[in-house]
Amino acid sequence: MARKFFVGGNFKMNPGSLEAKKAIVNVLNKADVDPNTEVVISPPALYLIPLVDFLRKDFSVSAQNCHEKLSGAFTGEISPTQLADAGVPWVILGHSERRTLFGENEKGEVRSIVAAKTKAALDAGLKVILCVGEKEEQREAGKTDEVVRSQLEPVFEVLKGDDAAWSKIVIAYEPVWAIGTGKVASPKDAQETHAATRKFLAERVSPAVAESTRIIYGGSVSAKNCKELSTQPDIDGFLVGGASLKPEFVDIINSKR
Ligand code: G3P
Repeated sequence: MARKFFVGGNFKMNPGSLEAKKAIVNVLNKADVDPNTEVVISPPALYLIPLVDFLRKDFSVSAQNCHEKLSGAFTGEISPTQLADAGVPWVILGHSERRTLFGENEKGEVRSIVAAKTKAALDAGLKVILCVGEKEEQREAGKTDEVVRSQLEPVFEVLKGDDAAWSKIVIAYEPVWAIGTGKVASPKDAQETHAATRKFLAERVSPAVAESTRIIYGGSVSAKNCKELSTQPDIDGFLVGGASLKPEFVDIINSKR
């Protein structure tokens, strides 16, 4: 089954104002884009609702995080049901900035916060962009595949027996050393990790799920490097940070054209 190319724009905590965001989104709204690419824009939480209205209807919006519980005394948090209620269809989970800066499973906890959030988000009817990726020292130690597998394993466990859930998940392979550094993974290295990740899916879920699940690449993707990366057989799109705030994001959306 052909996997639809997927490009996400993760604005992170940028830019500063609603006006600046509208300027970026205005460019996207007017752009001539490849209809064969699915596009998802992820602004900071406060701007999700305005963006649902303001963004062109062939694009969707995504939150950057959610809580693992549906409601309760969790000051400052947003639940997956609240996102669904607000008309937000997607959520990014397990981003390396959440894992490292906000302690989501980088300290050897047995219970996986990212897996619990993934389950809660899917139960609430959201779709999930699930991020995985190794740090530089882990790559240098030849542990890339091991790290990716260990980050996926708790999600395999929590979704055991529910293969259909994987149709609502896009896996984003984002090597931490490539995020915001300008050091993009080579097409060959990225392809190897994507192929290994697909193999884990085949072994731990099913060959059919492995074949249909989109595995996208993130980490210093730009208009310059996106075309070659997009020709790799197991790279099904991109999760873009810095360049999603610039007009070149349109070129990245159109990588396959
Ligand atoms: O989630 C996207 C991201 O972490 C990659 O950021 O700025 O390297 O494209 P950037």
